[in-house]
Amino acid sequence: MIAVVGSINLDLVVPVPHHPVPGETVLGGDLAEHPGGKGANQAVAAARLGAQVAMVGRVGMDQAGTALRAVLEREGVDVRWVLAEAGVSTGRALIAVDRMTGENSIIVSPGANSALFPEHCAASGAVLRDASVTLLQQEIPAATVEAAARLAGGTVLLNPAPARDLPAELLDMVDVLVPNRTELAALVGHPLPDLHAVADAARQLRGPAAVVVTLGRDGALLCEEGAVLLVPALEVTPVDTTAAGDAFCGALAYAIAGGSPLHEAVRRANASAALATTLPGAQPSLPTRAEVEKLLGHDF
Ligand code: RIB
Repeated sequence: MIAVVGSINLDLVVPVPHHPVPGETVLGGDLAEHPGGKGANQAVAAARLGAQVAMVGRVGMDQAGTALRAVLEREGVDVRWVLAEAGVSTGRALIAVDRMTGENSIIVSPGANSALFPEHCAASGAVLRDASVTLLQQEIPAATVEAAARLAGGTVLLNPAPARDLPAELLDMVDVLVPNRTELAALVGHPLPDLHAVADAARQLRGPAAVVVTLGRDGALLCEEGAVLLVPALEVTPVDTTAAGDAFCGALAYAIAGGSPLHEAVRRANASAALATTLPGAQPSLPTRAEVEKLLGHDF
């Protein structure tokens, strides 16, 4: 079983000809609404591959919260620990997607996600203790991420998105850290202009047994016990990169829970991430196991 402790958002998505710079107004296309939130996306990503997933999260007592919880339930995610919080709105994300490149920029208004507290992790019973993998991100309070890592009985996978300072105590509880290049640069405190710099930065991090850096079209870099392996991306034509990182994390958790060695888990996670860029939206773009097997050239 995989436990996800994290955010649940309603994504408000607008295609744009280019991303606005400060002070600029850009005329975009039609507004679309999709279920999102890094936590919920990662839960759905793992569930679509066939994992048994339980989610710990918070929504508001509003229409969006009811709908997003129902979406998770339809995906087969155990939502007994996704509760509605009075007096706050369900989280929202404002997302602009570049029509030409599919690259996104995201502003999150966390709403009820900010009301997910350490005691809610403790109240989720044995779910974190019994999960073979606990999957965490950073759209919820830092204290909650730390509490979840402390309660986790299995492998702890942290996707440090969005970036913030990670206390050494938390890093020591993380088994696999999965930053993207920007998040890794924020963690080490300097820019990472090329893959050598990325590899050096991943080697430099203390705490996690392994660091997996997602690199978009460059694939992913796995750093384990000082050894570095670049796992190439699969070639696809991207239309929207939203949730590619979430597809990666969900698939990585699924493969680790199934006993795959990390290099094989990263290869499969790359396939999930590539497929997630080929469709618009966060959760609508997350692939099934059959789609991943097809891209990898396997029979299913
Ligand atoms: O990683 C993509 C997600 O980030 C979106 O679904 C949005 O809700 C934000 O949380």
